[in-house]
Amino acid sequence: MKLSGDGRAMVSTAGEVKEEPLLEVRDLSVTFKAERGGFIKRVEYVYAVKRVSFQIRKGTTMGLVGESGSGKSTIGKAILRLAPLGEGTIHYGGQELTGLADNEFMPFRKRIQTIFQDPYASMNPRLTIASIVAEPLIVHAQAMTRKQREELVADLLEKVGLPADSMNRYPHQFSGGQRQRICIARALSSSPEFIICDECVSALDVSVQAQIVNLLQDIQDELGITYLFIAHDLAVVEHMCDEALVMELGEIVEQGPTDSLYRSPQHSYTHRLLSAVPRMPTIARAH
Ligand SMILES: Nc1ncnc2c1ncn2[C@@H]1O[C@H](COP(=O)(O)OP(=O)(O)OP(=O)(O)O)[C@@H](O)[C@H]1O
Ligand SMILES: [Mg+2]
Repeated sequence: MKLSGDGRAMVSTAGEVKEEPLLEVRDLSVTFKAERGGFIKRVEYVYAVKRVSFQIRKGTTMGLVGESGSGKSTIGKAILRLAPLGEGTIHYGGQELTGLADNEFMPFRKRIQTIFQDPYASMNPRLTIASIVAEPLIVHAQAMTRKQREELVADLLEKVGLPADSMNRYPHQFSGGQRQRICIARALSSSPEFIICDECVSALDVSVQAQIVNLLQDIQDELGITYLFIAHDLAVVEHMCDEALVMELGEIVEQGPTDSLYRSPQHSYTHRLLSAVPRMPTIARAH
């Protein structure tokens, strides 16, 4: 596969034109302010992410791996404008995001959702599951009657494998795996095209991890959603992702299709990550 003259349309070696990537990040750098020194303070800017470039094709899953502090979450946050963008560009669906005013960026907050590592921390414990799942609809002022909203929430809960009577219960009444299912339902409620999963299975035990990964894959098969799947180990990524980016100290040191990364890792850091991680058990997907 190679890029055409303007670097946008993807053209295979056979000459067949492929769809543009859904997300294209070019030379992205993010710096944070850090105070150094004792009595005399000086402000320094440290790179959390340094000249990172990658593309994600529609309907595929891109893994993002690397050890703690390597800059994985910062990339996800920069896409959503939750981290300061230093340099570089982000194109989403062919549209340049970086130059948009906040109100112009608002629709992209609906189209791009996130699922975080700790589902409990991302839920208001005083809200019922129905209100939590419907949050994005309210934030984005989706025109809907109360009945329509309830039906949608019931459908979403069913899709993520939770009983409809979960609606009137509260987050503390669920297990970690069930709470993550609630977060997935919430992420889906605004019909996003793209979901950033930031360590969304890392806090779960291995068999529940596999169930959630399978659920995300089933949802992708059904709805064609594109994922950026952030994880600090390669075992889950092997199971879940079509391609992967390997990050070390804010830079991408290796990227490519997951199977070739596993078969013949080129970078010593990828070798180290691969040798350190136990393999994930396979749990049959329900079809
Ligand atoms: N708001 C912030 N202010 C200052 N420094 C920050 C901020 N957020 C992140 N950093 C720094 O940026 C670097 C990358 O952090 P990031 O959270 O992206 O790492 P990560 O790869 O997601 O790590 P983990 O696997 O632990 O989640 C770290 O050195 C971190 O300390
Ligand atoms: Mg992180």
